[in-house]
Amino acid sequence: MKKKTIILGIETSCDETAAALIEENSGQIPTILSSIVSSQVNVHKKFGGVVPELAARSHIEKIDLIVKKAIDESGKKIEDIDAIAATAGPGLIVCLSVGLNFGKAFASSLIKPFMAVNHLEGHALSPKLTTKLEYPYLLLLISGGHSQFLSVQGLGKYKRLGTTIDDAVGEAFDKTAKLLGIEFPGGPYLEKYAEKGNPERFILPKPILNKGGCNLSFAGLKTAVLRVSKEIKNKKDKYDLAASFQKTIEIILNKKTEIAFKEYKKINKNKNNIFVVAGGVASNKKIRKVLTDLCFKENFKPIFPPLDLCSDNAAMIAMVGLEKFKIKNFDNFDHPAKPRWPLDKNAIFLKGAGVKL
Ligand code: KG4
Ligand code: ZN
Repeated sequence: MKKKTIILGIETSCDETAAALIEENSGQIPTILSSIVSSQVNVHKKFGGVVPELAARSHIEKIDLIVKKAIDESGKKIEDIDAIAATAGPGLIVCLSVGLNFGKAFASSLIKPFMAVNHLEGHALSPKLTTKLEYPYLLLLISGGHSQFLSVQGLGKYKRLGTTIDDAVGEAFDKTAKLLGIEFPGGPYLEKYAEKGNPERFILPKPILNKGGCNLSFAGLKTAVLRVSKEIKNKKDKYDLAASFQKTIEIILNKKTEIAFKEYKKINKNKNNIFVVAGGVASNKKIRKVLTDLCFKENFKPIFPPLDLCSDNAAMIAMVGLEKFKIKNFDNFDHPAKPRWPLDKNAIFLKGAGVKL
């Protein structure tokens, strides 16, 4: 019997050191043989955010152990690995360099192909680890560093329909959580606070809701939360602000997704309407519910990766590696780490103060 392809994925773009082995399955959904994620939350907690130097040091301390654990838990041997895929960007350069260089050195020593992977493409293809998914599809990528609508035409083929012009959704969640005194990273806890509060208590702004197509903006919302947070006196106030913030995000994402559906249909006429939501914020249960309801209304098929594949992991990096491996799209050992690496290289850079829509 022909040996099935096995890919080792490595991820160190931010504050998670991760390694995973996946096995191809004759064109069906691949099998995740192992997926190890070592979070650095405790390293960064007291600083209220990721400290790049400490993150890089922590990756260096752990990368070999995490890769070994992933191989051990997979039940396979080092010789069974057919190729190595490592995240090369976007992310913190000092962090990216650790996994990227480890991956190159490992591939070189095993004399196996090496593939440099775009972290965002990892999120984009993450549902393929659990669902049969054909191109094209509409992707909403919502994470700590990115918020974008993309038409995914194929491997490496993306058309950006909309993006944030300032903060990412995850960033807005984390900053709001910080103002409420919730420990870093606050996003998941903020969701829990919100469940106990009154979403109608505070009226918060919804920047560019009715202009700028499906582009997004969260900076004004953050400023408003800062203002309101100064009036917070007790736990109930905190729950109410969390609930009002969560509700505001739901309204923004609902409206912008509606616009994105229209734009997607214009460029993908007569195709299956599939809507994938990926990235850390896609684990938010209420956001999943609101966007699922919208899909049913608008005749789109919703696909959300399971929670452990929404946040950063290396199985999604191995998934991109597997697709690249199938078409022999290998990279050289001089492939650089890329702190900025947009999926749609033709899309104009919109982020930053003073952007006019
Ligand atoms: O994709 P991810 O793990 O890392 C990046 O590539 O950025 O996303 C992390 C982000 C953080 O901002 C985190 O607070 C947010 O996702 N997040 C959530 C939830 N779980 C994670 N935000 C809202 N609700 C959640 N349940
Ligand atoms: Zn990510």
